[in-house]
Amino acid sequence: MTVIIDGSPVEAPAGMPIGALLHARDATLRLTGDGRRRGLFCGMGLCFDCLVLVDGREAVRACITPAADGMRIVTGRP
Ligand code: FES
Repeated sequence: MTVIIDGSPVEAPAGMPIGALLHARDATLRLTGDGRRRGLFCGMGLCFDCLVLVDGREAVRACITPAADGMRIVTGRP
């Protein structure tokens, strides 16, 4: 299975949470208003620190969203 992360194709196991996939790549999931890097924190959908853009949808919680073939993920956004 292939997902597109910030424009680059990445092989990923089907159904793997995209938060885990991004964490393994040391990705910055989002930026705070003052530019601080955020990533996985609670890992279970409660803190909203892991928000990314997925297939054009804003504020998707990466930690509880399974990867799917062809999914387009954009990280490092405010
Ligand atoms: S890491 Fe807390 S909601 Fe995703």
